[in-house]
Amino acid sequence: MSASNANVGELIDRSHVVVCCGTGGVGKTTASAVLALAAARRGRNAVVVTIDPAKRLADTLGLEELGDTAREIDRDRWDPSDTAPAEGRLSALMLDTRATFDGLVHKHAESPEQAERILANRFYRNIAGALSGTQEYMAMEKLHELHDEGGFDLIVVDTPPTRHALDFLDAPARLTRLLDNRIFRLLMMPTRRSLRLASLAVQTFLRTVAKVIGSEVIDDIVAFFRAFEGMEHGFRERAANVTALLAAPTTAFVLVTSPRRDAVGEAEFFAERLRESDLSVDVLIVNRVHPDFGGQRTPLELRVRAVEITEVANRCDDSEAAVRLALRYENLADYVSLGQHERDELARAGDRIGAGVVTFVPSLAHDVFDIAALDAVGRHLVG
Ligand SMILES: Nc1ncnc2c1ncn2[C@@H]1O[C@H](COP(=O)(O)OP(=O)(O)OP(=O)(O)O)[C@@H](O)[C@H]1O
Ligand SMILES: [Mg+2]
Repeated sequence: MSASNANVGELIDRSHVVVCCGTGGVGKTTASAVLALAAARRGRNAVVVTIDPAKRLADTLGLEELGDTAREIDRDRWDPSDTAPAEGRLSALMLDTRATFDGLVHKHAESPEQAERILANRFYRNIAGALSGTQEYMAMEKLHELHDEGGFDLIVVDTPPTRHALDFLDAPARLTRLLDNRIFRLLMMPTRRSLRLASLAVQTFLRTVAKVIGSEVIDDIVAFFRAFEGMEHGFRERAANVTALLAAPTTAFVLVTSPRRDAVGEAEFFAERLRESDLSVDVLIVNRVHPDFGGQRTPLELRVRAVEITEVANRCDDSEAAVRLALRYENLADYVSLGQHERDELARAGDRIGAGVVTFVPSLAHDVFDIAALDAVGRHLVG
């Protein structure tokens, strides 16, 4: 394990995909934007795929709004001093689950009529944006599309603020399981006769579901799966490709956490989940640690200084200012020792997680809302 941020620079130089994950609110979206920006500054053609309901990133990047397709960010905006290599480019997009799903239907349907049939289907209209797991799955489809057709050197993927932040890892496998499901396959069959031929268990299942949600809903679902016919092969294939892409040596996982005990616990849990999928954490970012007060001085040096000042103060007539100064030094010593303790503790958590690199980003005095603030975070993260 190393605590060098030079390694993060190296990571964004050599990776093709970087996935930022972590529990809610720890700084995934911020870290994704920072990494893509830093990569562009280092001469890479980078894109960040963000999932940010607050649309904060669009504002930060100076875009009116982020669309579902990658938009290049004006160079003047992200490189005002014109120091980045000419090849460096920065693009961004915001994942729109519904638009991505519609786009997939249009692109992969065998005919425009098939696409229309699906898009007009009531069941489709209900699930396209709302079904649990759809967002994770569409994030993966987007990744696949950008990898396949985007021509980017680096794709940085932000992940949804779900309780189960690694659900997106399972999304391709879950889709494949659905497509392999017996009931799904029966629903894909073209005639009602085949439903009559369905096993008793399936018929009972459908009758029960019909009772609960209404038979017209079942008709919609059956119509949806029928309309889907011929497309499932493509979905299955892309799911397999994404799974392979996530496991590729050029894909890196960046786990973001805050120093809070519960967040570190979650991070350890995520790392475990990644390990179960034979994946590992390349970088652990501990965001919002105590700033590095005190320069190079140790708490002991600071306390010695406080004692020296107090001794001088005792010999002076007007000692009030000196006493206040001594107290400030004591205070600073406390902060430095707290910061060091925090970093040591977190470095140990990094070891447990098996992160290749652990980096610390201090809490800034303000929210990260513009390029300058992204750069400030970037200086800690990438150097
Ligand atoms: N180092 C930092 N210093 C100060 N503010 C920060 C820092 N990092 C992130 N923030 C702020 O913390 C908030 C949460 O960050 P961010 O949106 O990146 O988290 P997230 O993990 O993407 O959240 P969600 O899970 O809701 O998507 C934002 O307002 C951001 O500006
Ligand atoms: Mg976010």
